[in-house]
Amino acid sequence: SGVTHVDVAVIGTGYVGTTTSIAFAAWDHKVIAIDSDREKISKLNRSVLPFYEEGLEKRLEQYRGSGNLSFTDDLKQGIARCDVLFIAVGTPSSPDGSADLSYVEMVARQIGQMMDRYKVVVTKSTVPVGTGDKIKAIITDELKKRNLSFSVDIVSNPEFLREGRALYDALHPERVVIGCETETAKKVMATLYERAQAPILYTTIRDAEMIKYAANAFLATKISFVNELARLCEKTGTNIMKVTEGMGMDSRIGPQFLRAGIGYGGSCFPKDTTALLNLAREQKIVLPILQAASDVNQTQVTWFMKRIQRTMGSFSGKRITLLGLTFKPETDDTREAPSLKIIEQLLQNKAVVNAYDPQGMEHVKKIYPQVVYKLTPYEALKGADAIILATEWREILDLDWSKVKGLVTQPYLFDGRNALDPSAMRDLGYCYVGIGIGERG
Ligand code: UGA
Repeated sequence: SGVTHVDVAVIGTGYVGTTTSIAFAAWDHKVIAIDSDREKISKLNRSVLPFYEEGLEKRLEQYRGSGNLSFTDDLKQGIARCDVLFIAVGTPSSPDGSADLSYVEMVARQIGQMMDRYKVVVTKSTVPVGTGDKIKAIITDELKKRNLSFSVDIVSNPEFLREGRALYDALHPERVVIGCETETAKKVMATLYERAQAPILYTTIRDAEMIKYAANAFLATKISFVNELARLCEKTGTNIMKVTEGMGMDSRIGPQFLRAGIGYGGSCFPKDTTALLNLAREQKIVLPILQAASDVNQTQVTWFMKRIQRTMGSFSGKRITLLGLTFKPETDDTREAPSLKIIEQLLQNKAVVNAYDPQGMEHVKKIYPQVVYKLTPYEALKGADAIILATEWREILDLDWSKVKGLVTQPYLFDGRNALDPSAMRDLGYCYVGIGIGERG
């Protein structure tokens, strides 16, 4: 189609910044991605990703080659070249649980100090309601100091991509949410997303900011609801896998995000639920449902560990092999991963812990040097008194489980993701325990 290209700059080359840059380049816009971290930029300029995401590096190489995508650590030059400027820097948790906006605010100030004409400034980072107003105030203030009279339009355009499926999600969004309050900004954003062929929802800036938190909070609540129910299934001899299958066939409920397990981790759900609870606290109201979802998630690993202990007895002196460390498969991200809580509890109870993960060992090694990390799952499983599956990597599910049976000392298999077939495992002679699968289930 006759889409005109837009000159875009993206500040921040983390997961979201890099993936969105690549998606815009794929839609034939001209993208310059900016980061103050020189090492990151020099890697990206050699088509090396600073994180693991299947298939993304190839696209990085492709669009750098086509001239649609370039990287720089020179903020001023990046800003000068673009009409639309995305803020995709991190918003980590402050000690009190609120979102730390210092990076966003610093970038806004720099934008105000460097911009040379009207621009649309878009937030991609997950930011609390009201951040758009703050950014506008900061930039306007800087422009005033410089005696400049042109204006700036603020847009909130939250990102819904999942790690491990980042490029697919960015290129094929189910919806695009655009919070904007001027016609000019709306037109630019529509052009930018024309090739996404997705429905666009236009809202106020504040509504768009809230939608992102609301979506993540709802998904997290779905998971915690099922994990809570799983506890009851264990006690009543029912099987959460069958129960959620039956629930999910109702289109009003839907089958997704109903998988029971050791809880949600990652850089988004834990942080965003906490930030939303914090926002509510500031407004002096309570959100009991979301609070409960967060509480269930925080106690789910302990619940599972108690069940393990009831099955195999004390951990003291036992060799336990942990399969999977990342917060989910297809990523090297171990932030807030339930595996970390498992390690913590095993070490506290004096177990000897061996671990294997296809991507996550480097990071965890720094936090828990006491754990023995092995280069293959089979090595990690040799002589184990119990196996705990914490991340459902394909490679782990596809192990030769009958060979594994010959390597371990005792046949305890604890599946924290309900990802293996219980009857197949029992047929091989394992004592298989999943989550929310009652003794009789
Ligand atoms: C999540 C959202 O799914 C994205 O839409 C959003 O853009 C992103 O956060 C973000 O805010 O940036 P992500 O954190 O990459 O994406 O991972 P998910 O696939 O949502 O999984 C989150 C956690 O929930 C994982 O630990 C996963 O194992 C767990 N989970 C997921 C379950 O325990 N059960 C389920 O049924 C689904």
